[in-house]
Amino acid sequence: MASISLTSVYKSYGTNAPVIRDVNLQIDNSEFCVFLGPSGCGKSTLLRMVAGLETISSGELKIGGQTMNLVPPSRRKVAMVFQNYALYPHMTVRENLAFGLKQAKKPADYIAQRIQEAARILELEPLLDRKPKALSGGQRQRVAIGRAIVREPGVFLFDEPLSNLDAALRVQTRTEIARLHKAFSQASAIYVTHDQIEAMALADKIVLLHSGKDTEQFGSIAQVGAPLELYHRPRSKFVAGFIGSPKMNFIEGAVASVDAQGVVVRLHSGESIRAAVDGASVGVGAAVTLGIRPEHFVADAGSAAAPDARQTITREVRQVERLGEHSYVHLDTGHHDTMIAKLPGDASQQQGDRIALGVPAGACHVFDTRGLALPVLKQG
Ligand SMILES: Nc1ncnc2c1ncn2[C@@H]1O[C@H](COP(=O)(O)OP(=O)(O)OP(=O)(O)O)[C@@H](O)[C@H]1O
Ligand SMILES: [Mg+2]
Repeated sequence: MASISLTSVYKSYGTNAPVIRDVNLQIDNSEFCVFLGPSGCGKSTLLRMVAGLETISSGELKIGGQTMNLVPPSRRKVAMVFQNYALYPHMTVRENLAFGLKQAKKPADYIAQRIQEAARILELEPLLDRKPKALSGGQRQRVAIGRAIVREPGVFLFDEPLSNLDAALRVQTRTEIARLHKAFSQASAIYVTHDQIEAMALADKIVLLHSGKDTEQFGSIAQVGAPLELYHRPRSKFVAGFIGSPKMNFIEGAVASVDAQGVVVRLHSGESIRAAVDGASVGVGAAVTLGIRPEHFVADAGSAAAPDARQTITREVRQVERLGEHSYVHLDTGHHDTMIAKLPGDASQQQGDRIALGVPAGACHVFDTRGLALPVLKQG
């Protein structure tokens, strides 16, 4: 087991602008940390720096309290599982599992015992004498994980390990990885994915990275926190839009008033909506963006059941997607973009209806012109 810390870490390739900027991060023993972000934001680069497969341009990396910047990968006690499992095709599962340990000149009985243990945990026992081509994608992935487990690493590193699997197998293997990590390991883990649902499901801690202009302005890290922290308290419009599916609706407006109960935003469409956020940093008249998640609209606004949702936004229904458990109601915004409300599966709304959706003040987010969220007011 080993904790990981990164301090003021930068990475540039050649003379180009840094792809990783000012990363400060602490990952504790047995913590499962997920690097999440859009393609090209630097997730793999950051992971490969921890593994030692990529040099660190500046800053410090520690594993288990020791500086690792110049320590070769083989001496970092990390085991990496890649997207393409890279199993040796001419070797059996058993030989694949043994390979790293043989290279490290471990004694035969130790190797046999480690393989037996890993095979038991991963339910690979019946497959030990097969070659990779006789395995399913999910089984191959388990062998790849097994190769990491037998080495008893202090740190597990996963780079999009499920992206070659079909949807059902992804979910199954994802559950498996979470179970394995909880049950058998004091090791810390870093898991890279661009899939926010995978990140929400697996992570103790999500590190959300952004790219381009945001990275230049704020550094590589957009926000670090537990999954629900990022969901409920996104620090910026980028985080708010990245976490959650369908994504948060953003509606332009301006501050109409600020008081102890929050901020009233006057939307360009005319409605005034109160948001339970701290308006200390914005003045009346300032341009802001109101954010509301599709699942937080209330369809029967004004009813006794929804007393806190009496303020409403009224729009025409452009399209309804009925998915069974719920329906996505697309609303006309008067622009090219749409607003989506997630309503119950039996919602009666139809294309062309004008509907009033309740907007609870506590479910509203407000972003300033820099894209930063105004702090949520404490309830009660
Ligand atoms: N060897 C290299 N030389 C120059 N630029 C590189 C090199 N490797 C990566 N980059 C650049 O660094 C940035 C980050 O790449 P990285 O592979 O870490 O992204 P990622 O977040 O893992 O993306 P994806 O989700 O597509 O895998 C990209 O803009 C990429 O083009
Ligand atoms: Mg990558």
